[in-house]
Amino acid sequence: MKMWSGRFRQPLDPEFERWQRSFDFDRRLLRYELAASAAHARALKSAGVLSSDEIIGILRGLQQLGERAASSPSFLDDDEAEDIHHFVEKQLVALIGETGYKLHSGRSRNEQIATDLRLYVRAAIDQLRHELAELCSALVNRAEQAADSAMPAYTHLQRAEPVLVGHWLLAYVEMFLRDAERLADCRRRMNLCPLGSGAVAGATLPLDRAFMAETLGFDGPTANSMDATSDRDFALEFAQTLSLLALHLSRWAEEMILFSTEEYGFIGLPEIFSTGSSAMPQKKNPDLLELVRGKAGRVAGNSTALIIAVKGLPLAYNKDLQETQEPLVDSADTMLQMLPLVAGWMKAVEFHHERMQQAAQSGFMNAWAAATYLVQRGIPSRLAHERIGKAVQMCLERKCELKDLPLKELQSLSPAFDQDFYQSLQLSSVLAIHDVPGGTAPARVRQAIGVTRKQIESLREEVHAQETHAHA
Ligand code: ARG
Repeated sequence: MKMWSGRFRQPLDPEFERWQRSFDFDRRLLRYELAASAAHARALKSAGVLSSDEIIGILRGLQQLGERAASSPSFLDDDEAEDIHHFVEKQLVALIGETGYKLHSGRSRNEQIATDLRLYVRAAIDQLRHELAELCSALVNRAEQAADSAMPAYTHLQRAEPVLVGHWLLAYVEMFLRDAERLADCRRRMNLCPLGSGAVAGATLPLDRAFMAETLGFDGPTANSMDATSDRDFALEFAQTLSLLALHLSRWAEEMILFSTEEYGFIGLPEIFSTGSSAMPQKKNPDLLELVRGKAGRVAGNSTALIIAVKGLPLAYNKDLQETQEPLVDSADTMLQMLPLVAGWMKAVEFHHERMQQAAQSGFMNAWAAATYLVQRGIPSRLAHERIGKAVQMCLERKCELKDLPLKELQSLSPAFDQDFYQSLQLSSVLAIHDVPGGTAPARVRQAIGVTRKQIESLREEVHAQETHAHA
């Protein structure tokens, strides 16, 4: 039986009927639909709508539906079900008889889908934050292993200054920790329960909304039934947060691809995450990285699809909102599949430290440190910059580095140069002068590794506490 056929004289056009269904994709929401339905059933019992026998029958029936779906996925192959709400009602009635129809008392699918989606997004956030903690931890481990080895840092993709390899890796950890925080923020704002909002104006029965919210691990009920049944801000925020995460991953992937080229030669691609060419026998291609970079388009596209689907919708529920489900789930799936692979890649990648270290010592990356030497001897910074610029010019003509210029010639540029200048040009000295919080001096990087580890630990603890709470 349909959920709404009473006022219709004609059956639906069969093609339209199939086309407007959402069961193909909202079947994924079954566990949330069952949980929300159980909470509603309990509220119906307290409101005196269900007898003790009826509530027992309904709760048992809902549980059995969950078990059946888990043990035989083909149970969900139902050509008649319009959506997940219809499916559960239909199967519940098949299981326990007409009492099953009582479950829908005082509720609407509009509040149900809003609730199911919030539960889905909340669970996805918990999983994603867990995966982000794993990825960050893989990066921090590699940062620690890299110890004091250095590499060039680039601005404008031109060699700029040397940094520790650990410092470079921690830059990505910062991005991913911000992503984890944004997800937490989104979770905090969305953790309110629409149940009891009815179709648009609020439930028609005295349902205990606070009780239903608590049962489902929400912080409380939503404040306005019109907003609650039509609000998809949480889905948009979530999808946008994932766009930003995908964007960070695409930057990471691009840099790894560059660094794996013969031209850079900083990293060796792990074979277990690369593929060959069907034509060129010598090739090892960075497919994982390229796909990660490419997925950013898809995830950003999903986020745009959501914004445009919701744009201009009058209050309250409109069927357009059904269109928000697929992009939302696709973004979550894409990121959930990708993050463990990225973490696996980070664990497996080979760093060519010698080559990086060498690259860090050529191309005048100590020029700013050289200018700083003069500044510390009282030369105004602009003039020091200019003097070192001249020295670089000399080197370019002679095809050498600053350290190769004789002291005499340096002194012709400025009398402030002395023998200890050469010491200041050495890689270890150059690294050491960046001795500020957030800088690349080895002691600062070690400190940052410690701080980051603590942040990852508290992220893990938070996720664990929330997961336990949400599934209690
Ligand atoms: N499948 C619908 C959706 O995703 C469920 C809500 C349907 N509500 C309605 N009044 N037709 O939005």
